[in-house]
Amino acid sequence: MDNLINDILNKIEQTSDLIALDEIRVSALGKKGTLTEQMKTLGTMSPEERKIAGQALNVAKEKIAKALDEKKQLLEKLELDKRLATETIDVSMPVRPVIEGRIHPVSQVMEEILTIFAQMGFDLAEGPDIEDDWHCFEALNFPKNHPARQMQATFFMDETGDTVLRTHTSPVQIRTMENKKPPIRIVAPGRTYRCDYDMTHTPMFHQIEGLVIDKSTNMGHLKGCLLEFMKKFFETDDVSLRFRPSFFPFTEPSAECDVGCSRENGEFKIESGKGWMELLGCGMVHPNVIKNCGLDPEEYQGFAFGVGIDRLAMLKYGIPDLRSFFEGDMRWMKHYGFLPLDVPTVTSGLSFNAGVKK
Ligand code: DAH
Repeated sequence: MDNLINDILNKIEQTSDLIALDEIRVSALGKKGTLTEQMKTLGTMSPEERKIAGQALNVAKEKIAKALDEKKQLLEKLELDKRLATETIDVSMPVRPVIEGRIHPVSQVMEEILTIFAQMGFDLAEGPDIEDDWHCFEALNFPKNHPARQMQATFFMDETGDTVLRTHTSPVQIRTMENKKPPIRIVAPGRTYRCDYDMTHTPMFHQIEGLVIDKSTNMGHLKGCLLEFMKKFFETDDVSLRFRPSFFPFTEPSAECDVGCSRENGEFKIESGKGWMELLGCGMVHPNVIKNCGLDPEEYQGFAFGVGIDRLAMLKYGIPDLRSFFEGDMRWMKHYGFLPLDVPTVTSGLSFNAGVKK
């Protein structure tokens, strides 16, 4: 009996995994286990023998059960320690780059633009995509039936023509002036919609509107502001701007602004003295617009500009077809997209991760 018990206790002592330990338990205490077999022999003994042998067997069983239990707890603890050790996370390690996801060029460029204007002291303003006629046209000095309305290729939401998908971000000018006293200095980015579709037009696109209103803001400030913006955005000092007279109902005078560029060997580059590329519309806010917002045009004046964000993205990052922006093709995103952790800032660089995206 002692040999049997010592043998089992030895085996328990020597096992180092839980499965083997359970096998020992079954082979000792299971239905056909060695101790169970011994118990079966009790019936063949005399009462005195049975008493002694029975007691010894019970003590042995308890001893073995206890040893099994202790060993089980020990092995479980070791296993847990091992698992905890392999699952350790060093929170002080740098985050691994997310390889799959990309920031869309529109989001990237919008961040870049907002970063620059924020640094120049502009606030962020927003308005709804679904607009009413007043904010989208009427208050912006578009007379009813004026050809300028037709040129906007408007999507109407109902037959009354009073609810539209905004064709530009200019309604945010109205919403801002209606709700805020000058001095006003805002940029308003967002989605805009027109019934149009080709290489450089999609029914949904993005614009950013700028508006500065106070008592003495003039066209010189507009030029300075846009020049400063373009230098930062295109990340070069070799930027020249040209202002051509134009027409918008909501500005007087109105101008279209071109940027100096070259197109050599199929490569587009921002630089002065070679040629021009149309960039944006701008001008001094029309007195009627200021009046329509409840402000006195004798007291307040200022400038506004509106620029296509997608267009800026195409120019800066050499993306040829606007339609591809909205197709959701991961191969395109891998090529033109940006790594999520490289957030543009004016000091550390706006587009430092361009070209190192693989
Ligand atoms: N809203 C115009 C458009 O989308 C762009 C524009 C032109 C905005 C001149 C302005 C501006 O603020 O002054 O066609």
